[in-house]
Amino acid sequence: MWFMKKGTCLAIAAAVALAGGSALAAGDPAKGAKVFKKCKACHTAKKGGKHKVGPNLFGVVGRMAGSTDFKRYKGLKGADWTWDEALLDEYLKDPKAFSKKRTGKRSSMVFKLKKSGDRANIIAYLKSVK
Ligand code: HEC
Repeated sequence: MWFMKKGTCLAIAAAVALAGGSALAAGDPAKGAKVFKKCKACHTAKKGGKHKVGPNLFGVVGRMAGSTDFKRYKGLKGADWTWDEALLDEYLKDPKAFSKKRTGKRSSMVFKLKKSGDRANIIAYLKSVK
């Protein structure tokens, strides 16, 4: 490419390589633990922790959605997917829209985590509790 200096080309190639594979930024579990305070009104994340307004979230990454013995699943009732980072990101952004699209049911989680950085951090935190 005659119009670019060689260094610019390399920088672009490196950026593409870094972004490749996953569209999600890597989160920080320690920061996520702080963001999780917002979830604590409804969730515990300890092993064997009790269900509150929402289900216990220990080991939720890699777990089948709606699969604990929590009695009050609504939007996640009949869920047929396993939680991974991308799905959790979409869910936490807007549980209501996500549930409507996925199960056709109304979500009982009345909470949205709007900042993508917060979501990345909290997902990193949830990955660490297992
Ligand atoms: C007002 C209460 C409330 C708050 C606050 C809340 N949740 Fe929830 N959460 C729920 C309920 C209720 C469900 C079950 C949803 C359903 O079945 O529709 C749920 C479900 C979930 C699930 C799916 C669990 C499973 O077993 O499949 C995840 C993951 C989750 N919440 C994460 C979070 C995170 C992370 C936060 C904080 C950013 C949060 N929630 C904040 C009430 C809440």
